[in-house]
Amino acid sequence: ATNTQPQYHDLLHCLCSQEDAICNLIYTAQNSTAYASVLQFSNNNASSSSSRTKPIAIVTPTTIPQVQSTVLCSRKHGLHLRVRSGGHDFEGASYASLSSPFLLLDLVNLRNVTVDVPSKSAWAQSGAVLAEVYHSIASASRTLAFPAGLCPTVGLGGHISGGGYGTTLRKFGMAADNIRDALLVDADGRVLDRAAMGEGVFWAIRGGGGNTYGIVVSWKLKLVRVPLRLSAFTVSRTASSDAEMTKLVDRYQRVTDKLPDDLMILVMIGAVDQGNSTKQVMYLGGKERLLRVMNESFPELGLKEEDCKEMSWIESVLHFANYPSNSTYDVLLKSRTDSPISFAKLKAKSDYVGTPLPESALQGIWSRVHQVEAGAALLHLIPHGGMMSRISDSSTPYPYRAGTVYKIQYYVAWSGEQKEVEERHLGWIRKLHEFLTPFVSKNPRGAYANSRDLDLGMNDPTGETSYEQARVWGEQYFKHNFERLARVKAAIDPSNFFRNEQSVPPLSM
Ligand code: FDA
Repeated sequence: ATNTQPQYHDLLHCLCSQEDAICNLIYTAQNSTAYASVLQFSNNNASSSSSRTKPIAIVTPTTIPQVQSTVLCSRKHGLHLRVRSGGHDFEGASYASLSSPFLLLDLVNLRNVTVDVPSKSAWAQSGAVLAEVYHSIASASRTLAFPAGLCPTVGLGGHISGGGYGTTLRKFGMAADNIRDALLVDADGRVLDRAAMGEGVFWAIRGGGGNTYGIVVSWKLKLVRVPLRLSAFTVSRTASSDAEMTKLVDRYQRVTDKLPDDLMILVMIGAVDQGNSTKQVMYLGGKERLLRVMNESFPELGLKEEDCKEMSWIESVLHFANYPSNSTYDVLLKSRTDSPISFAKLKAKSDYVGTPLPESALQGIWSRVHQVEAGAALLHLIPHGGMMSRISDSSTPYPYRAGTVYKIQYYVAWSGEQKEVEERHLGWIRKLHEFLTPFVSKNPRGAYANSRDLDLGMNDPTGETSYEQARVWGEQYFKHNFERLARVKAAIDPSNFFRNEQSVPPLSM
């Protein structure tokens, strides 16, 4: 810490001399008792973050000019900067670093959301979490929605920067597909809207990774029309044997991407005593039609009328976020401090499936799921098809469009700090990933940018990573779009001021 002292004092001086008010919004590791609680406030306990460098100070701006000052001061004094919105990065990249000391710019105070019903749009600041965005939309209209993630405490800033999928993915695409405009603070401290940043940068910030092109302070969301009543519910099927489970999931993977766009069946597989599977169903319509569609396309699930629940879109948000069924949607405003989803230590990986997995792969998954204690392993199958297959694979940086049947998200969770316990769980998920190699997308193997996985590769902590080195993990997230991202990066941030373990390095020429 000693050689960071002068840098850090100069930085504080620089920030305070710009504007008095910002002095009260700085929390230093050495001098502030609130530092630990501010750092912990938006934080998902990513497994790898505990052993990494914490910020030397946290700045929590309340205005866009304060964001600009923070960028300019940290650049002037050569201090690395990271931005955090909801802090849900799976590797903690927003608040923990493998490289040099850094300043954390926390957008927790920039979370205003303004909905304009006639134009079906909303300006939402990046520090808002999804719960706050959904609450504002539902307060303004009962038939407008925004197609983004299921977890209420995910921050808008990181979520859109990496894509963002939720229960209406097959009908409306991803969050990043539904953005009309944005305000970006670049490395020169300028505030750029879509026209000023240009279409290349506007393309890159919608899914091309966070902390790379600048700081997006707010997004203009395109809201989508949803029916007053839709069907949203969870059906649990506990298979009596692995063979029965294989049969059910095999049928699922043959139909899921071909169902009507209005229907999304998200499968969650976890260990009870035997492998169990839970299907979360979202249908943008009433239950009579849903039952007809399901009985025609997926009778094996045996869906019955009593399984189906009709509700409004905002009630479906509460349902999928596990709030008790009698909750009113005002609970969303307390999601940051009182969320029904709590976090143990967590590691995630992702894969894309273009051809249904053979029985041997499914059996192999179940046997591995039985190897960890109940509740520790969870697999989500997220169907694509529908609108996702009609959006071109270079329309945004997210390349998994036509030809993707579903995405697998796999998670492992554990409690406590014991090294042996951590190693065992990390080993489990890495082995499962290795086992699936022959069965999932290849050349390159796919991965979801918002499911950050540092096992795929990392930038050099010095910031000197070459484009060729970064291709290893970059093309897994972005495929052919990676090169365009690196060229955009060279145009907007040639000095690589905004960077982290997996930011896209600049490619000039
Ligand atoms: P965080 O603040 O950690 O930021 C993530 C990355 O983006 C960091 O590199 C950060 O520096 C950068 N960044 C943040 N704000 C920025 C800004 N304003 N401008 C530029 N860069 C910025 N995903 C999904 O698609 N659907 C889902 O349903 C879920 N569900 C889910 C549940 C849980 C429990 C977790 C932990 C994660 C998810 N995710 C998800 C993944 C989630 O979308 C992903 O981790 C997002 O990047 C998190 O965004 P935050 O702003 O919360 O993270």
